[in-house]
Amino acid sequence: MNPFAIETEAVGFSYPDGYVALEDVAFRVRRGEFVAMLASNGSGKTTLIKVIAGLLNPQKGTVRVEGRDIRRYAQAELYQRIGLVFQNPNDQLFGPTVAEDAAFGPRNLGLPEDEVQRRVAAALEAVGAGELGERAIHHLSFGQQKRAAIAGVLAMKPSILILDEPTAGLDPAGEHGMLRLLGRLNKEQGITIILATHSVDTLPLFADRIYLLNRGRVLKEGPSEEVFRDHELIESASLRLPYVSRLLDELKNLDGVPIDGLPLTLGEARQQLLKLIPDEMILPVIAEEKP
Ligand SMILES: Nc1ncnc2c1ncn2[C@@H]1O[C@H](COP(=O)(O)OP(=O)(O)OP(=O)(O)O)[C@@H](O)[C@H]1O
Ligand SMILES: [Mg+2]
Repeated sequence: MNPFAIETEAVGFSYPDGYVALEDVAFRVRRGEFVAMLASNGSGKTTLIKVIAGLLNPQKGTVRVEGRDIRRYAQAELYQRIGLVFQNPNDQLFGPTVAEDAAFGPRNLGLPEDEVQRRVAAALEAVGAGELGERAIHHLSFGQQKRAAIAGVLAMKPSILILDEPTAGLDPAGEHGMLRLLGRLNKEQGITIILATHSVDTLPLFADRIYLLNRGRVLKEGPSEEVFRDHELIESASLRLPYVSRLLDELKNLDGVPIDGLPLTLGEARQQLLKLIPDEMILPVIAEEKP
């Protein structure tokens, strides 16, 4: 079996007005991976998402989905494999209620009604929206609509879930909850996750790998610690280090504090700082909590 969920080679895409939005993009995601496209506004994330989901045809290069050229898929076959969650949930929620909306896709597949209902219940449960089923879409909060949109695509049982800015517009708890949900879908159900974001603070906790894009090109690809190690490159892409990394980086470079590598998360930073604090300075109650 081909190990890649998505592979693009030398993809180039220009909009009808001639604007070149993607150039020579090689983007590969293995089955079961959790990969983030990280880039500032206008860098081509949405364009690349539309290309790999089959909504836009690139003028150059190739796109393969699960080993097969995307042009050889019938539209319906592609929709069953790839679940696409748009940045704005209003662009994809149509049903009067959350459950009716989620039932739309499976019904369209011609599945028997009891299977449709099973899928809808499982999808709502998976996104923690079991109690929202009978609620009217237009009465939901933005965060609830995002969950409803994800439930709608999960009901199609996709093997690949692609999300455009899934945490944009969510409050801090909502953002963390959304990433935990995606992490669970990835680990427990084995769904390949591809998301686009410019949110650097929470990303390193969740993504196996990051593609750093700028002006329609891939600047760098690799695990988060590799991508974030190159500070100049991150800045040249109009992004920044996670705040916690920046703090430790300044302690290291401006104050000479001996810190190894580049902690990217609170947990990593805590471990680094604990190593530098003499045991006698740590209060017994805290010392007991040390792992
Ligand atoms: N229909 C269009 N016609 C012409 N140019 C477009 C069109 N849609 C997008 N573009 C241009 O393509 C570039 C990439 O846009 P895209 O929406 O893919 O970026 P993005 O990384 O998703 O940005 P954001 O973070 O703001 O969502 C931008 O410069 C944009 O102006
Ligand atoms: Mg976008």
